[in-house]
Amino acid sequence: MKRLVLGVLVVILVFGCGVNALAKVKIGVAMPTQSLQRWNQDGANIKALLEEKGYEVDLQYANNDVALQVSQLENMILGGADILVIASIDGSALGTVLAVAKEEGIPVIAYDRLIMETDAVSYFTTFDNYMVGVMQGQYIVDALDLENAEGTFNIEIFAGSPDDNNALHVYSGGFSAIKPYIESGKLVVPSGQTAFEIVATPQWSTERAQARMDNLIAANYTGDTELHAVLCPNDSTALGVINSLAGAGFEEFPIITGQDCDIATVKNIIAGRQSMSIFKDTRILAARAVAMIEAIVNGEEPEINDTESYFNGIFYVPTYLCEPVFADIDNYYELLIDGGYYTPEQIFD
Ligand code: BGC
Repeated sequence: MKRLVLGVLVVILVFGCGVNALAKVKIGVAMPTQSLQRWNQDGANIKALLEEKGYEVDLQYANNDVALQVSQLENMILGGADILVIASIDGSALGTVLAVAKEEGIPVIAYDRLIMETDAVSYFTTFDNYMVGVMQGQYIVDALDLENAEGTFNIEIFAGSPDDNNALHVYSGGFSAIKPYIESGKLVVPSGQTAFEIVATPQWSTERAQARMDNLIAANYTGDTELHAVLCPNDSTALGVINSLAGAGFEEFPIITGQDCDIATVKNIIAGRQSMSIFKDTRILAARAVAMIEAIVNGEEPEINDTESYFNGIFYVPTYLCEPVFADIDNYYELLIDGGYYTPEQIFD
């Protein structure tokens, strides 16, 4: 904080001399990768909002490379960043570099993904990840009408990256919704693979999800066994599952869930290959991070609405949880196109 107070003092002095004051407050924004559409939107939204308000922004993407993200953060600190906004790759790998940030008095906002095992993180903003999972699991329960339908249904389960704290929350939410039906025998997991460690997908990778689905099909679905649903934690893993099913000659697709509402996914929803995705409006999350920055710069406490869900191994990080909603064939147009998130051309051309 020392450094920030200094920064604000400089700003006040410079402002007195008639120079654009806020240009002096530097925000380092570290994003995990450009390979997933959402992070490009997140980064672009934060940068645009901050620049509109006169901040200087150093936005970096780390190609899912943990060492690269660490060195980008080191450079931001050396370059005089006043506040850091970080969507981590490996949530537990930033302790050392953030200890330096803390020493320098630089507040750290964990963006979308919690930063683990450090007291150097100041605030966290994300969408309610447990709720994301519950909505995915409940979608399957409703789509298969498990309360009323006769017979049993087969399901396979995928989870996200084990180094991303979000993955466990999403998995736990999803599993909580389908668990009663697995216990009653209404839902069957032919592979028997349900534990997080077994169904996790390192780096949320499309290729890894595809490879695992290839194995599941080869081992369990070559005969008459039908596959009715695949609980997928996000769009990149869902895409791997869809590629695998298409490669294996599936023409009718099971219920497949997702998260992010990527353009490719919306196209798959329209084509009947994916059933739903969770819409986490990156404009809302970016605006929340910017509101946190503004509060810190003004010496106020940022608004938070959760202090008991996100324990990072050291403490419960003060969090602002945004609310996810789901998109499917029935509401995607209104939600995503009428809502101005995508243009019709992006989806239909
Ligand atoms: C995010 C998801 C995203 C996934 C893969 C998670 O931390 O919450 O929105 O799909 O990472 O990048």
